[in-house]
Amino acid sequence: MLRETSLSPSDFIYPLFVVEGKGVRKEISSMPGCYQESIDKAIENAKEAKLLGVPAIILFGIPEHKDEVGSGAYDENGIIQRAIKELKNAIAELYVITDVCLCEYTSHGHCGVIRDGDVVNDETVDLLAKEALSHARSGADMVAPSDMMDGRVGAIRDALDEGGFSNVPVMSYAAKYASAFYGPFREAAESTPQFGDRRSYQMDPPNRREAMREVALDIDEGADIIMVKPALAYLDIISDVRNNFDVPVAAYSVSGEYSLIKAAGKLGWVDENRVMLESLTSIKRAGADLILTYFAKDAAKLLNG
Ligand code: PBG
Repeated sequence: MLRETSLSPSDFIYPLFVVEGKGVRKEISSMPGCYQESIDKAIENAKEAKLLGVPAIILFGIPEHKDEVGSGAYDENGIIQRAIKELKNAIAELYVITDVCLCEYTSHGHCGVIRDGDVVNDETVDLLAKEALSHARSGADMVAPSDMMDGRVGAIRDALDEGGFSNVPVMSYAAKYASAFYGPFREAAESTPQFGDRRSYQMDPPNRREAMREVALDIDEGADIIMVKPALAYLDIISDVRNNFDVPVAAYSVSGEYSLIKAAGKLGWVDENRVMLESLTSIKRAGADLILTYFAKDAAKLLNG
């Protein structure tokens, strides 16, 4: 009765990694229980999540061919575009969110177009807007830009509005830090930068006030939901965003957070289930309304009893 924070499967967004093929379910070695899956298997996985009360998934696509400008990202017949259509057809009322970024689709693994060894902001923004629009055309319910280019939320909002998708919201990865916690994801999404790192476009971990500026800019450009990422090492940022802004707040409990808990659990060093629920609870207590988590199904099972 007196508990201040409650956790429910409806708080979760479940990330899925989609690859070409049929009947493919390849476990990601650093993320036990997470897979690269072909569309048919992703449908099975999303169905299970939906039955457990998890309302939404977020999709990451791994194309067969990558190139310099990530053309697979905005190909009308690309892996994600087909996945959205098939998932929406197969599962009634599944809420499908797409990650909008180029890093899974570029041969160099960076989140944008490269010139003279650096990511070019404005050219990248045009491609991201194209990508978001093609996701919406394929039936995406919400788009989530994760690239961290400047001005992309506004450009995506304009492209969606002009394309007739004014009802498709934008969840912005607004305060996204250049974090070592993304390590396992880069194996999962095959998106490790081939040179350099992402520090020229992602935020510096020691910076707290800067996150408020990033969030204010994105809200100004039309972001509907603000995301903080990673979650556990950034609970202060989640709390600041909650206290300073009046939009829904999402937090991404990233791959490394999942892997650490899984690994220690496997070794018998911690009680995996309890640490999982305690971590998720702390993210909500800090102020998140929504949590993107690879634990979505596991946690939902426990919460459902
Ligand atoms: C793409 C993207 C990344 C993650 C989500 N979208 C990786 C990155 O920025 O390097 C990380 C998610 C995770 O670690 O679980 N830009």
